[in-house]
Amino acid sequence: MKQFVASIIANRSIAAEWRELSLEWDPDAGRPQPGQFFSFRASRASDPLLRRPLAFASVSADSARVRAIYQVRGLATQLLSEEAPGSGLDILGPLGRPFTLPEPATQPRSLLVAGGIGIGPILFLHSEIGPPRPSLVLGFRSVALIPELDLPEGSVICTDDGTRGFHGSVVRWLEELAPAEARLFGCGPAPMLAALAALSRRRGWHASLSAEQWMACGVGACMGCALPRADGAGYVRVCADGPVFEYPSPDGLDVDWLRLGTVP
Ligand code: FES
Repeated sequence: MKQFVASIIANRSIAAEWRELSLEWDPDAGRPQPGQFFSFRASRASDPLLRRPLAFASVSADSARVRAIYQVRGLATQLLSEEAPGSGLDILGPLGRPFTLPEPATQPRSLLVAGGIGIGPILFLHSEIGPPRPSLVLGFRSVALIPELDLPEGSVICTDDGTRGFHGSVVRWLEELAPAEARLFGCGPAPMLAALAALSRRRGWHASLSAEQWMACGVGACMGCALPRADGAGYVRVCADGPVFEYPSPDGLDVDWLRLGTVP
């Protein structure tokens, strides 16, 4: 982990309110892993004061460039969307607990599932596995919200309104078409993660789920990103204990996904 000023290489629109940010990365900070994130400072002024997290969507082979996909939804991301190539961005990272890559023997039955902006970490994870590459299942509300990206061949597209690919959510695709045995990796909005956890419990699958959460410090010091533990014994910190959590958990750090899914 390191704090430094990264030069912006590109910052382009890829869908309505979605953008792709490419940055120069300092290899001395460490090579980011799928599921990890960095925090950025959107302004040198006091507003917004807090850093904002962005998940890595890819890292170059020499660790000199990284990519992130973000949605403009607030002042910090609005200011970020206005940054031009060549300008500097105050960065802290890499942060958080990454995905554990599947064993080669389980790769063929691994399912990588993303909803909405969760596509970034899942594309990164997909690029780091295999061959053989696992199946990729991507969900969007409508065809108009599918980003302009080179998606891997064979990607399953699901749209809520049926305007492209499978008509329905990624969870419905899994319920109807997934093999009996699967190893799940997921990233997306809370209701989707809650549904993936519930489906995994019914099917006896192991799932690695990456939570999206508001953050303040981003390094485990403020509890601003706390989510309830499934055993009722307090909270987990998404920034330091996650954002990737195993389900069921080998270390007791189970998020109460079902309760999380009811939080708007
Ligand atoms: Fe401060 Fe996670 S954002 S503990």
